[in-house]
Amino acid sequence: MEKYIDMINDALKQYLPEADDIVSQAMRYSIENGGKRVRPSLLLAFCELCSGDINKAMPLACALEMIHTYSLIHDDLPCMDDDDFRRGKPSCHIKFGYEYALLAGDALLTLAFETALKAEIPSELVVMATKELAVASGWAGMVGGQVVDLQNEGKQVKVEEVVKMYNQKTGELIRAACVIGCIAAGAISKIPYATVYAHNIGLAFQIVDDILDVTSDSATLGKPVGSDEENEKCTYVSLVGLEESARVVSRLTDEAKTVLNKFDADSTALRDFADKMEKRKN
Ligand code: IPE
Ligand code: IPE
Ligand code: MG
Ligand code: MG
Ligand code: MG
Repeated sequence: MEKYIDMINDALKQYLPEADDIVSQAMRYSIENGGKRVRPSLLLAFCELCSGDINKAMPLACALEMIHTYSLIHDDLPCMDDDDFRRGKPSCHIKFGYEYALLAGDALLTLAFETALKAEIPSELVVMATKELAVASGWAGMVGGQVVDLQNEGKQVKVEEVVKMYNQKTGELIRAACVIGCIAAGAISKIPYATVYAHNIGLAFQIVDDILDVTSDSATLGKPVGSDEENEKCTYVSLVGLEESARVVSRLTDEAKTVLNKFDADSTALRDFADKMEKRKN
């Protein structure tokens, strides 16, 4: 899957504004040279697994990364997680000021939809993919999860509630990645299997994020550690501990790999990716 990263970075550069105004600068600053590109890579991998043309799907992959990056810019703001460091450099609001970080996030969200519409696939598939993008990002998806995440601060909530919130705030964009990859390839019948894979690695991904917030260091992670404790977040790790969290991640990773048998083509790349995400250090 690493072969996708340079392609994604080149394409993102092409779709971002070249203008010199402060918000264009802030958009480029937050997107460029950073991030694992997990979501666009998943999108392209599912597209390829379903025999689609990844070049034609690239605008959708870039759109998803723009939405993810906007979510990180807003997530770091003082009114949310109040984190000063992101992707190995000062957070957008530290570098450009709160008001321009807010607007850079807004502008990335709208640019995402402008970019998604450039996908060179049949127009009914563009509509379907863009709808997935909208639903996954909005009030019932990522934004909805972020709302509950904030409301849970300082509270002890049930594990099931935390899982539901994770499925929204993190799981939904990962689900959109895998599902849109299938849509871009016209492989509608494979969406249920892509959804199962996404559901499992999405939940595992957020639990690993929580584990790293406790066990890693900010140089490795490229963002602050101990942020969850400082914000009194109720996380999977704070509820069940590090060991049980790691066991659950391992189980979810296995489930994700199993469903890949439903695809006709060689799914080794996505199998290895699930393992890599389980063992990731940042
Ligand atoms: C961080 O996502 C936010 C979560 C949903 C856990 P990533 O770990 O994918 O962040 P980048 O894109 O690599 O910076
Ligand atoms: C995921 O949760 C955030 C988003 C959905 C944007 P976190 O708040 O834990 O993500 P990090 O740790 O700041 O990257
Ligand atoms: Mg957060
Ligand atoms: Mg955060
Ligand atoms: Mg976190």
